[in-house]
Amino acid sequence: MSFEIKNNVYWVGVIDWGLRKFHGEELSTNNGSSYNSYLIKDEKNVLIDTVYTPFAEEFINNLQKEISLEEIDCIVINHAEPDHSGALPYLIEKMPNAKIICSTNGMKSINGYYHLDKEMTVMKTGDTLNIGSRELVFVENQMIHWPDSMMCYLTKDNILFSNDAFGQHYANKAMYNSKADKCLIYSESLKYYANIVAPFSKKVAKKIEDVLAMNLTINYICPSHGIIWDENPTQIIDLYAKWANSYQENQVTIIYDTMYNSTRKMAEAIACGISEESPETKIQLLNTGTGDKSDIITEIFRSKMLIAGSPTVNNGISTSMAGLLEEIKGFALTGKKGSAFGSYGWNPLGVKSISNKLQEGGFELVGEGMKVNWNPDEKALSDCKEYGKMLAKSL
Ligand code: FEO
Repeated sequence: MSFEIKNNVYWVGVIDWGLRKFHGEELSTNNGSSYNSYLIKDEKNVLIDTVYTPFAEEFINNLQKEISLEEIDCIVINHAEPDHSGALPYLIEKMPNAKIICSTNGMKSINGYYHLDKEMTVMKTGDTLNIGSRELVFVENQMIHWPDSMMCYLTKDNILFSNDAFGQHYANKAMYNSKADKCLIYSESLKYYANIVAPFSKKVAKKIEDVLAMNLTINYICPSHGIIWDENPTQIIDLYAKWANSYQENQVTIIYDTMYNSTRKMAEAIACGISEESPETKIQLLNTGTGDKSDIITEIFRSKMLIAGSPTVNNGISTSMAGLLEEIKGFALTGKKGSAFGSYGWNPLGVKSISNKLQEGGFELVGEGMKVNWNPDEKALSDCKEYGKMLAKSL
C-alpha cells in the first residue's frame, strides 16, 4: 500500500495491525500502529524515515513499486530508533550512493545501532536542503523523545514531517484524521503523549514556542506513527501545548494491589469518601496487578491526585506497585498531589514506602497515609471513607 498525499509526496510506510506491545513489553498498543515513511519526488528524490526492522523486506518491495531505488538521492533519518531506521541497512546495501541525512546525535545513534561505514550529512535547526521545486527545512527536536530526534518541513506544500512527535499508535486504513475515528485518535494521542513524551514536557513546551515563532503555514502534519493530520492539523500542536504544561483534569486516580482484598476494600472506601465529598470529581480505580500499565499511566497523567495502595509485602510493597511507582518517578510529573494507603499484618511498612516513592516522583503528599491492620472492619472502612473525604477537600 502507498498513496499520494499531495504534489508527489507519498506515504510509503507499513501498517502493523497486530502490534500489541511496543518498546519491548513496556507499552501496550491495543489498536496496532504504523511506521510511516514518506517519499518526496522532485529533482532530488527524498525518502523520509523507514520502518521497523521486521518489515524491512516488505517495505522495500513496496517502495520499489513507487520508485526505483537508484533514483532515491537522500534518506532522511529523523530519529534512529529501530522502528524508523530498521530498514536503513538493507536500503544502503541496495543503494550505496544515497546520502543519509540526520542530526548530529543521529549520526551517533545510527552508527551505534548499525555500525555503517558511511558518510552522513548532518543538519542543524534552520539548515535547508534544496530538492528542486521545494526545500526541506530541518528543525532539531532533541529529547522529544531521543537526543537525535529531528523534524523537517517541506516548503510550498507546507508539510511538517514530525517523526514521533504528534503521533499515535493507531492502525487505520483511512490514514487521515479527517477520515478516522476522532475519539480513538484523541485517546491514542493522549496515551502516546502520557507514556512516551510526558517525561520531556518542559522541552516540548519550549519547542512548541520555537515552532510557533517560526510562523510556518502548516497544511499537513505527517508523524511517523498513526494518522496524518490533514483537517485542522495544528490542533495536535495545541493539544501538546496543553499537555506539556502540568496537565490535569478534574480526576483522581486510585491505584492499588491486593492479596486478600483488604487493600481493595480500602481503595473502594476511599473512592466512596471522595465521591461523597466531591461528586463532580471523576474517579478511576485501577488494580496495578491486573490492569494495563500504559493505560494506568495515562489515567495518572490526566489526574490531579494519585492515591496509591499496597499491602505490606515482606519489608516493602507489591512488585506491580513498586514497578509502576518507579516508572512514574521518571516522568517528573508536576502539579499533582499524592497519598498512600494499604493493609498490613506485622508492620505497616508499605504505606511509608509508597509515600517515599510518591515524593520522589514529585507528588505533593497529602495526609499521613491510611493504614489498616489485617482485614478492615466496618470502623476501618468508615475511617478510609473519611480519609477519602479529607483528600477530596485538599483538591
Ligand atoms: Fe517511534 Fe522513538 O520511535
